[in-house]
Amino acid sequence: MKIGFIASEVFPFAKTGGLADVSGALPKEISNLDHEVKVFMPKYSFIPEETFKLVPVKNWGVIPIKMADTTQNTAVYQSSLPDSNVEVYFLDCPDYFDRETIYTNDPDEDERFILFSKGVMEIIRRLQWSPDILHCNDWQTGLIPVYIKDNDSRDKLFKNTKSLFTIHNIGYQGIFPIKSADTAGIKPEFVNAPGGAEHYGSFSFLKAGILFADVVNTVSPTYAKELLTPELGFAMDKFLENRGENFSGIINGVDYAEWNPVTDNLIPHNYSIDDLSGKEKNKKELLDQFNLSFSKDTPVIGIVSRLVGQKGFDLIARTLEFLSKLPVQWIILGNGEEVYEDMFKSFAGMRPEKAGVYIGYSDQLAHLIEAGADMFLMPSKYEPCGLNQIYSLKYGTVPIVRKTGGLADTVTDYDEYLQMGKETGNGFSFTEYNGFELTGAIERALKYYQDKKVWNTIIRNGMAEDYSWTKSAEKYVELYKKALKK
Ligand code: ADP
Ligand code: GLC
Repeated sequence: MKIGFIASEVFPFAKTGGLADVSGALPKEISNLDHEVKVFMPKYSFIPEETFKLVPVKNWGVIPIKMADTTQNTAVYQSSLPDSNVEVYFLDCPDYFDRETIYTNDPDEDERFILFSKGVMEIIRRLQWSPDILHCNDWQTGLIPVYIKDNDSRDKLFKNTKSLFTIHNIGYQGIFPIKSADTAGIKPEFVNAPGGAEHYGSFSFLKAGILFADVVNTVSPTYAKELLTPELGFAMDKFLENRGENFSGIINGVDYAEWNPVTDNLIPHNYSIDDLSGKEKNKKELLDQFNLSFSKDTPVIGIVSRLVGQKGFDLIARTLEFLSKLPVQWIILGNGEEVYEDMFKSFAGMRPEKAGVYIGYSDQLAHLIEAGADMFLMPSKYEPCGLNQIYSLKYGTVPIVRKTGGLADTVTDYDEYLQMGKETGNGFSFTEYNGFELTGAIERALKYYQDKKVWNTIIRNGMAEDYSWTKSAEKYVELYKKALKK
């Protein structure tokens, strides 16, 4: 099959969260299964061209793209995913992509991704490449399924092309004024007619993807079920329900070439399930970086996260007083909403002997926290998949999570499994979204931490888990085949 994989962020070129990790890894796995995959993303101005060997596709010159009443001139750059021959095409348009961040609150946010979507179609035309599948990800690419459906066979290249739309997070819906649909050149039948992407008087890119892709999926089986409920469906539950068997969940995999303590070159001391000595050295190093003292008996709880409501930080806010008295040290890395940045900064300010906080983005520190912390906390309100808890398992860093979405699919509570007569739990989890259950789960983890034999079992159960992409990539190939039958 020929597959175009389209995303607004792709590791290592541009990343805010897990979407980039998935987009940097899944296309390689699909390609390893003997399919031809090309990746498409915007050329953000902060992507270092030399580091990532971006070269302009010169013979295409300037590519004009029509946007409502204006025309934007674009160009295309090319590179490939590291250690692979998967080609990556970057759409360059400084007017839209020369911004400080991948996503903005600028008034032309809709135009940025309309241009990107139209641009991807144009690149494919220049390539004279006829994809079987366009695999679209999140709202930024939600218009592409419409463009394919609306092809009215003008364009032979897309005559047999089908689309898959993957929802990585229903919380971001790309909702813009209805005139956005005009800018995108989308016909009223896809917008205002019953079954169109109009959404309470506005226009939703996400809804367009959900309604018009041939097949839709999300990033874990549990989240797929949750998305069908009014509570977590964020007003899209009915539309997803209408997709019936064309909507499903596939758990994300992990790129163990990037996230494996045995080979990780971003951590000072490598280690493995057979020799954990490097882990303690990393813990010392991590504490050192934050001027915190090391003690074998005091566990370090790590957090690496976008600091947004989804991740459950209001539970931490509500229980911070209590948490700050526990016999643990905290290392927190993240950026996002000011209220949570301030909360963690003032926590570190008040308890400098207990908490190290870095507000910002750092791949290196993210890896060191995975390697050096004893526990990893993710009390998410909702979590489509979550990758950090899966990285944590491999790094022997015991996850403490709320049982929702992909967290429920990957973390098994040690106590709960013990009651079933199994010693195979790999972490700690709690169900209800309240401070009492959160602190309860942390206290249980602290109790077991003091019993080195049990703790070692939990660590090993996690490290032995295998979330490599192969299995999930095969499931994506099945979905592509399903779409092709439509
Ligand atoms: P989400 O995609 O919702 O942010 P995931 O758990 O799927 O959550 O993925 C988050 C990814 O982003 C992980 O690779 C994590 O290490 C990374 N990440 C998040 N915040 C930061 C940060 N401040 N610095 C470095 N990496 C970060
Ligand atoms: C989203 C979700 C996260 C998921 C990631 C990759 O950002 O919040 O749970 O792991 O996408 O699919």
